[in-house]
Amino acid sequence: MSSGGETIGIFGAGWVGLVTAACFADLGHRVIVRDIVPERIERLRAGEVPIYEPGLSELLERNRERMSYTLEVSDVTSEADLLFVCVGTPPTYAGDADLSAVWAVVEELPELGQEAIMIMKSTVPAGTGEKVRAALEARGLGHVGYASNPEFLAEGRAVEDFVHPDRIVIGSFEPSDGKRVGTLYDGIEAPIVYSDVASAEMIKLASNAFLATRISFINEIANVCELTGADVEQVAEGMGLDRRIGPHFLHAGIGYGGSCFPKDVTALKQLAGNSGYHFQLLSSVIEVNELQKRRVVGKLEKHLGPLAGKVIAILGLTFKPETNDMREAASIVLGSRLLAEGAEVRAWDPMAERDSYLRGARICDSILEAVTGADAAVIVTEWKQLRELASDEVRLAMRNPLIVDGRNMLDPAQVGAAGFAYECVGRPGSCAPMPAATADLDLESTPE
Ligand code: UDX
Repeated sequence: MSSGGETIGIFGAGWVGLVTAACFADLGHRVIVRDIVPERIERLRAGEVPIYEPGLSELLERNRERMSYTLEVSDVTSEADLLFVCVGTPPTYAGDADLSAVWAVVEELPELGQEAIMIMKSTVPAGTGEKVRAALEARGLGHVGYASNPEFLAEGRAVEDFVHPDRIVIGSFEPSDGKRVGTLYDGIEAPIVYSDVASAEMIKLASNAFLATRISFINEIANVCELTGADVEQVAEGMGLDRRIGPHFLHAGIGYGGSCFPKDVTALKQLAGNSGYHFQLLSSVIEVNELQKRRVVGKLEKHLGPLAGKVIAILGLTFKPETNDMREAASIVLGSRLLAEGAEVRAWDPMAERDSYLRGARICDSILEAVTGADAAVIVTEWKQLRELASDEVRLAMRNPLIVDGRNMLDPAQVGAAGFAYECVGRPGSCAPMPAATADLDLESTPE
């Protein structure tokens, strides 16, 4: 931890804002966090952490003396001239990013000194900085600097990602503003990419779109593997050893979800469209992802025939493990499809928020409760509690011992040896039908 830090203002006490605030405080800066929700500010002042993120509460506690929380913009701007915008930019109905919370911050800024810099952490379309610049000028705040400093934080490892980033991206209109923002990260070992504002904005969108593209690509390879007898895990390993490709984000599964990829891929596609360019590749990335979530239905039907009246246990609801976040989770689409087919849906998840659970599904407190009497158990989220799913206890509890593994968590040979029929994603063993399976359905299966 360095000493003699700056005073930083953070607008938005959401997930990005709180992680950013806590990590900057830990680097020795004083941080004032402002949010518009009174209850959130009260809870933070009382030492409560309103979101779940590993390591965050410890950081907030450890740096309590350097942090304060307020509802008032003036409490921030009277002390801080480095003003981070960490507000939400959710998708609009049209798929663009909703920037109303960003504009609200711009509107609320009072008179600011020459030194002030507004720093955008929220994910915004390329070109937003130019618009904010113009809005600041229109408000007589043309002397206020502006920088784009996108976050690259993954849920569940956000503190780690902040402290050990692959890179820090800072785009600014004035190089001196960029350098000043860069010094806030003193103590963190990472290359800093200084760029213009539009490029920094685009680096964020392009990075997430590229990672999503890798996932859709490997999912399509997995689907072809299912038809040709290849094993997608071996394929991914062999591909990943090529340094030009690399091993990350090549894990085939049930499709990507979460608060970032679906939103940012759509936002980039829309940005391109609004600018006069049809981003064809991203349309396919999105479509492949949607279809991937639905492929499970076909795999279930292959074994069970029509799903009306069948009992299906969905194991894992969140978009990935170690989070309670259900945003754009594959479970939502899958659960809705199963309910629409007339199946009885049970759901188990150790962390998902109760009120965001699937409407129409029966929520179960344990894995065993969910699978008891079920015709199939579907692994949607790779929670570690599911590693031992293929047990005698589960097999005996199920009406029909079928596991559909949407995350390739289990070992096909072990699951088969334990007496289950098993489907996974792009690995041999996926297609072994049960003796009683309905074989005459017109679905893809591994050729003889
Ligand atoms: C992501 C980015 O990693 C982060 O840099 C960005 O700032 C926000 O978006 P996050 O959404 O928290 O972070 O989750 P991540 O761990 O990246 O996973 C996203 C989704 O992709 C999950 O649904 C995950 O299951 C899926 N995924 C990931 C795959 O299906 N296969 C993979 O190989 C990797």
